[in-house]
Amino acid sequence: MKRIVDYAQLFMKEYLKDGDTAVDFTMGNGYDTLFLAKHTPHGKVYAFDVLEQALKNTKAKLSWEGIENVELILDGHEHAERYISRFKVGVFNFGYLPGNNKEETTLLKTSQEAVEKALKRLERKGVLILVLYPGHEQGALESHYFSSYIQSLDTYYYECFTFKMENKTDCPYIIGIEKKREK
Ligand SMILES: C[S@@+](CC[C@H](N)C(=O)[O-])C[C@H]1O[C@@H](n2cnc3c(N)ncnc32)[C@H](O)[C@@H]1O
Repeated sequence: MKRIVDYAQLFMKEYLKDGDTAVDFTMGNGYDTLFLAKHTPHGKVYAFDVLEQALKNTKAKLSWEGIENVELILDGHEHAERYISRFKVGVFNFGYLPGNNKEETTLLKTSQEAVEKALKRLERKGVLILVLYPGHEQGALESHYFSSYIQSLDTYYYECFTFKMENKTDCPYIIGIEKKREK
């Protein structure tokens, strides 16, 4: 099997067309930011993180590839509405920066707030991808919450799916939320 983050990118690619706006709500080391930027070279990508180290690592990756259609934002994704309006594809890859302090992880309260706000800004026929890690404490809270949250979303407005390996406990998995109609 591919890694879960590779599957997440396959889903993003399915929805993203050149010229679209995309948002990486958890920039980290910039792999998803770079992926999104390459798939919408005439569009724009916004990327958020609370750690300067994440911006530094991502900036280096983008400049190495000569990519300029990205705005890196040092702020929490729960404040994303201050910087973005509408977007077609968004990704939350929850957790902590690999190789960094595991305590500096995404937290349920701000993750909840950020996803709810992001859904309001999501374009029709766009998708929000959540990559969840139930194998650590905060990740377990997030996955428990979002797995039931998607069941509460009205099917008139949203279609939700889960992509998960079923014969392994606590492995990372993907939730996708596609917007069918504006409220
Ligand atoms: C698993 S990493 C993301 C990996 C990234 N997508 C990549 O391609 O390398 C999660 C990131 O979320 C960041 N984070 C934690 N809380 C955040 C918040 N409130 N807003 C934005 N990013 C946050 C962490 O600092 C960490 O860098």
